[in-house]
Amino acid sequence: MAGRSNVGKSSLINALCRSKIARTSAAPGKTRLVNFYRVSLEGGPGGPGRWALHLVDLPGYGYARGGQNSAAELAAVSEAYFADDAASDLTRGSGVLMLVDARHPGLVADLEAARWFDKLGIKRHIVATKIDKLSKNERAKNLKALETSLAMPALPVSAASGEGMDELWRTIARLVRNAE
Ligand code: GTP
Ligand code: MG
Repeated sequence: MAGRSNVGKSSLINALCRSKIARTSAAPGKTRLVNFYRVSLEGGPGGPGRWALHLVDLPGYGYARGGQNSAAELAAVSEAYFADDAASDLTRGSGVLMLVDARHPGLVADLEAARWFDKLGIKRHIVATKIDKLSKNERAKNLKALETSLAMPALPVSAASGEGMDELWRTIARLVRNAE
């Protein structure tokens, strides 16, 4: 889970796991470390049998005052994670879920981050968070704007209402299988 500070990365992990395992906060900059959550599942979107994966909660970018270079910020805070050979092999196979706030398409910080992932050859999958906050009209308009600015469709989700969790689990299952 990569994305701007306060976009809802930790909340999404909790919603996916239906458990408050990740700490969330209304104030940006809550997650300062790279946190790994090992999830063990019986059946479900991964197919029959038991399977396990790690959900990785990365610190957010686009929060530091002054220097507004989110690519550099993402590089700095996530360096330990992306520099790790095993992690980067996995990440190269599966890619990252890049979370963007459904209310704010086209933010410079997100465009910079997307370029940073593209440059490193890390496949990104766009997830539009907090979709519950939008009206039907805004939702269609913003999803279209996100798709245009990030060059791929975004999966709309809400940690608050649970919308999109099944689709997101299916996406995650597909990414994990690709990484194997
Ligand atoms: P950092 O750790 O600072 O990078 O933030 P984060 O991306 O982990 O965000 P976090 O999950 O802590 O959520 C930030 C705020 O957004 C909290 O007040 C959450 O309750 C709220 N929030 C997260 N997801 C949703 C959502 O789907 N809908 C609504 N309405 N609020 C949400
Ligand atoms: Mg967090």
